[in-house]
Amino acid sequence: MKFLDALSGEIVSPPPVWMMRQAGRYLAEYRETRKQARNFLNFCYTPDLAVEVTLQPIRRYGFDASILFSDILVIPDALGQKVEFQEGVGPVLDALESDRDIEALDVDRVVEYLGPVFETVSRLRRELPNETALIGFAGSPWTVAYYMVEGRSGKDGAKLRKWAYGREADLDRVIDVLVDATTAYLCRQVESGVNALQLFDSWAGIASETLFDRYVIAPTKKIVDGVRAKHSHVPILGFPRQGGALYGKYVRETGVDGVSLDPQVPLDWIKDQVPSTVTLQGNLDNYLLVAGGRALDEGVKRILDAMADRPFIFNLGHGIVPETPPEHVARVLEIIRGY
Ligand code: CP3
Repeated sequence: MKFLDALSGEIVSPPPVWMMRQAGRYLAEYRETRKQARNFLNFCYTPDLAVEVTLQPIRRYGFDASILFSDILVIPDALGQKVEFQEGVGPVLDALESDRDIEALDVDRVVEYLGPVFETVSRLRRELPNETALIGFAGSPWTVAYYMVEGRSGKDGAKLRKWAYGREADLDRVIDVLVDATTAYLCRQVESGVNALQLFDSWAGIASETLFDRYVIAPTKKIVDGVRAKHSHVPILGFPRQGGALYGKYVRETGVDGVSLDPQVPLDWIKDQVPSTVTLQGNLDNYLLVAGGRALDEGVKRILDAMADRPFIFNLGHGIVPETPPEHVARVLEIIRGY
């Protein structure tokens, strides 16, 4: 599989490509399937539907990798916290407040509760073409804790950061629970058939340097070590989005095999920050994909040129947004495959 070759440190030309949120509302067939589920979580927990939408972008575009259709917030749901996805709002959780709320989080039920996700993984591995890698994933503890403490997105993480400085022991407990739950969850994904893993740390950019060490790097390293202790062969990608100057340290200290870059990361700079055996992934601006035209063609070529001498996986710098014209995705693949 081209994707796994690149992730093992090989330079593959042209590079393998997949896109974050490649299954989603920009595709008519996704919107159609989505109608069959009561709500978004139910959608994630119905293997027939989750398998179908995971396969849709593979059928349409033949990406080199497929990502399990699920969400990072299935973990708080499995831990027993109330999680809802509201139309037009996004995720809304019953935010953690008291000691009791933290104590109620139950790591022991996570793996059993998420059984339908593992069923989706094993069916996908059977149904996908042999050359298409299957990526499993989870949110990193800092980002999942963001939603658990804040209750919803769209803020600068004021409450989470106040906890990090003023209720350190409480946040540490939440993070420890997440490390254990996430490690068990990812190991089960591997046992069910995923070929690689990605850890999404979408809110890494709001952590100060001190918080980044304690809550982004340290828990990620624990998960990487925990997964490798059981499954040493499975490559792991990390995505400390908007990690800025801390990207290099993240890679060196967590020990990830590859790192996903947001659109702001300077490509020549990052090459000096990480060992040349670490695979780089990214980092096309998702709104350049919306805009299309000559600017898109040039943006894609600029990335391909910059990354030609490194193990590299083409991707976006953040997920595909619903207004993206599907033909722009096809155009990106055409440019890459003709490179
Ligand atoms: O195709 C794929 O990438 C696989 C599936 C996937 C989803 N979410 C499906 C989804 C993955 C890998 C995620 C990760 C995820 N979820 C992240 C990390 C990556 C990132 O985007 O930063 C985060 C922060 C979440 C939490 C989340 N889930 C939010 C904030 C939202 C609302 C925003 C939105 O686009 O509606 C979701 C919902 C969600 N997760 C959708 C999808 C396809 C849209 C739901 C719908 O169909 O209505």
